[in-house]
Amino acid sequence: MQPIRFQGAPLLLCSIFTSFRYTMAMEVTQILLNAQSVDSTVRKHSEETLKQFQEQNLPGFLLSLSGELANEEKPVDSRKLAGLILKNALDAKEQHRKFELVQRWLSLDMAVKAQIKTCLLQTLSSPVPDAHSTASQVIAKVAGIELPQKQWPELIGSLLSNIHQVPAHVKQATLETLGYLCEEVSPEVVDQDQVNKILTAVVQGMNAEEGNNDVRLAATRALYNALSFAQANFNNDMERDFIMRVVCEATQSPEVKIRQAAFECLVSISSTYYEKLAPYIQDIFNVTAKAVKEDVEPVALQAIEFWSSICDEEIDILEDFGGDFTADSDVPCYYFIKQALPALVPMLLETLLKQEEDQDQDEGAWNLAMAGGTCLGLVARTVGDEIVPLVMPFIQENISKPDWRQREAATYAFGSILEGPSPDKLTPLVNVALNFMLTALTKDPNSHVKDTTAWTLGRIFEFLHGSTVETPIITPANCQLIITVLLQAMKDAPNVAEKSCGALYFLAQGYEDMGASSPLTPYFQEIMQVLLTVTHREDAGESRLRTAAYETLNEVVRCSTDETAPMVLQLTPIIMTELHQTLEGQKLSSDEREKQSELQGLLCGCLQVIIQKLGASEPTKLVFMQYADQIMNLFLRVFACRNATVHEEAMLAIGALAYATGANFAKYMPEFYKYLEMGLQNFEEYQVCAVTVGVVGDVCRALEDKILPYCDGIMTQLLKDLSSNQLHRSVKPPIFSCLGDIALAIGENFEKYLMYAMPMLQSAAELSAHTSGADDEMVEYTNLLRNGILEAYSGIFQGFKNSPKTQLLIPYAPHILQFLDSIYMEKDMDDVVMKTAIGVLGDLADTLGSNAGSLIQQSLSSKEFLNECLSSDDHLIKESAEWAKLAITRAISV
Ligand SMILES: *[C@@H]1O[C@H](CO)[C@@H](O)[C@H](O)[C@H]1NC(C)=O
Ligand SMILES: *[C@@H]1O[C@H](CO)[C@@H](O)[C@H](O)[C@H]1NC(C)=O
Ligand SMILES: *[C@@H]1O[C@H](CO)[C@@H](O)[C@H](O)[C@H]1NC(C)=O
Repeated sequence: MQPIRFQGAPLLLCSIFTSFRYTMAMEVTQILLNAQSVDSTVRKHSEETLKQFQEQNLPGFLLSLSGELANEEKPVDSRKLAGLILKNALDAKEQHRKFELVQRWLSLDMAVKAQIKTCLLQTLSSPVPDAHSTASQVIAKVAGIELPQKQWPELIGSLLSNIHQVPAHVKQATLETLGYLCEEVSPEVVDQDQVNKILTAVVQGMNAEEGNNDVRLAATRALYNALSFAQANFNNDMERDFIMRVVCEATQSPEVKIRQAAFECLVSISSTYYEKLAPYIQDIFNVTAKAVKEDVEPVALQAIEFWSSICDEEIDILEDFGGDFTADSDVPCYYFIKQALPALVPMLLETLLKQEEDQDQDEGAWNLAMAGGTCLGLVARTVGDEIVPLVMPFIQENISKPDWRQREAATYAFGSILEGPSPDKLTPLVNVALNFMLTALTKDPNSHVKDTTAWTLGRIFEFLHGSTVETPIITPANCQLIITVLLQAMKDAPNVAEKSCGALYFLAQGYEDMGASSPLTPYFQEIMQVLLTVTHREDAGESRLRTAAYETLNEVVRCSTDETAPMVLQLTPIIMTELHQTLEGQKLSSDEREKQSELQGLLCGCLQVIIQKLGASEPTKLVFMQYADQIMNLFLRVFACRNATVHEEAMLAIGALAYATGANFAKYMPEFYKYLEMGLQNFEEYQVCAVTVGVVGDVCRALEDKILPYCDGIMTQLLKDLSSNQLHRSVKPPIFSCLGDIALAIGENFEKYLMYAMPMLQSAAELSAHTSGADDEMVEYTNLLRNGILEAYSGIFQGFKNSPKTQLLIPYAPHILQFLDSIYMEKDMDDVVMKTAIGVLGDLADTLGSNAGSLIQQSLSSKEFLNECLSSDDHLIKESAEWAKLAITRAISV
């Protein structure tokens, strides 16, 4: 075998027994083999040895692993594991761990790193597939760390220097490395010259005339990752033509995996380079149509995905600009879907007939028929009314055919096009179809057909229920029949029952805000009974049935009117009893424990909705309060049967209970407090932490200054959370808002926390003031953060209002005004931040009055920002601004 020479790579030979200053590499083969032993004692022992080696001598450890990976004389299993351990030493899922590993690598001795990299590059020419493919991944990880630091500048050049002369397997490994590398680093790290070289190598690798299938596949996959680097190349007509031609040709490869990868490239191109597609769309239609018709499923699915992706693009463009391409929108709509419609719709309808025999049983299954139906739904949303005449003949001809596949496909087609076209267009059709559907749900012998029929009914209720057309779809005359059929279908097979629950969910939702009386009232009792019966079905664990039944029960309760409040009240002890029963279990296996916890979640969720419903009006709240002690007791027991972690749904339900009980909630605090604290400490399940932070807010509003005895503990924990870099960043904005809730609840008692909270708010404010260069996601997060910070300030000012201690806040005013000015000048705040920000200006003026008069007058916010808000179209911003103006006038005039 001819060794590959890497231009620019250090001329260090990679050998395992190299002694390297203080670093001794060591023979790790046997340990690595033992780590994969079936004997758990042997395995544990060797894992321990590896751990010790790593802890005692990291450079030596990494050198040994890279030496092992590179050594052709070693067994493939030890080489592969060596590579995997190396990879895991460079990257981790959790953000803070990843950061640590990156820092650790960067701080290693340069010479050690150089030798490891030499070994890795050398391994690319290994004839052993597992070895070179693992090396590719490790190289990409190192590149992901080093290229952004401007280290390893010669990497891409050395990978590509002699790619034309090397044997096929080396070419394959090199292309794989380039692919992984493009996945790891962001485009701005690689200069255009190098991008050009990568694309040249990749496109040549895909070229059918040379190389073998492994090379072509590696190249096609590499292109997929390299596409986001190719902005400049896609702007050049010739280069773009060339890339597109090569990709389209690859969709015709005799090799399935290459065809699939090529269509994946097309899908990616459709979203990244939508505006460049016009010259190719006819060709692409031809290749996708052929794949959908003839190819194997994984390829056909990608071909459909291309059109779904085009729909997504056009839906976005049309939503943003209402269809009018104006000078300030970046990308016009090319109406590809509209143009392809006459050919596209028949192609998709045909896929609907390719159902699988047992598709409803297998949750999460995805097949051609489902992909086709989903795409048809997107097409309907893209073109609206135009799709209807193209689909109706298929539905009319096939919906009553003897073959279940035809009936199911026709029903699915109908359900798919219900979102998009206008109610005027759809309502007459639905009025004709509704009775047919209800009969099918009762009588069709096939469960797939019933399943899809129930789903379609749900879509009818979801999209056309409330539409104000002359002939409403649901009338007093057919309402009873609809409910009877749906409740009957809930006794059917789990998948049919689940979809029927879904249909009832949307039916109930359509009657939200009905005022005093809902058409569902006469059936309310029966609906609750049937849904509870469904939750008790032996097979309720299949097809998500139990969950669907509870979700529907919750929605029925949520949308109910005062008339049915007594029945909701009767439901309360029933759900409480069920929750109680989950707490009576004996010792549970871990599997049973998980099921128990899930059921407790559903029951707590249901109680939360009941509490919110009954707590919303005084008469029902009064009656409901008889249950409060018992319910709280149940929630505490749910917490107690968990170990060290807090149940999220129980926490949410407690928030609702606090809101409903108000100051009386104080009596639960001594027992509840420890779970509150536990929730705030839960960094790992950060959603639990976030939910708990929200509940602290609810409890503050309920207890007001009665929360004071618990504030030291809560504040300590919140401040710890804020200064931790382990807590998921999404929890930080709500924590800031929560500081505002606390300040508002305890007023001037917040004094003792000012010296801790204010510096933290100030430094977060400084960090969030500027977003230049951030991506959309970061801008969105920054706005959340700003809003949290502003809510904290607002709570603090309002809390101190009319207190003799307001002067304590004066030192902070200059900074806060500066913060408002700087986010105003940044011009990237969203409406929510704008409203909160102008509100804070008002709060500051209102609380500090003349003490801050001159400061306020000097600030930009009190002039331009205020004026901008005063003339806002958003009435909430305007209202907030008018109030701020008033407060400022008062502060200045005194
Ligand atoms: C696409 O296919 C149609 C029918 O097979 C053919 O007439 C047409 O020329 C093809 N278009 C392109 C651009 O290949
Ligand atoms: C009905 O379905 C069949 C396939 O079973 C299809 O060939 C036919 O074109 C469909 N009818 C219409 C009008 O689309
Ligand atoms: C948590 O579980 C461990 C064993 O799994 C047990 O020893 C401990 O007492 C439990 N703690 C609580 C608070 O239930």
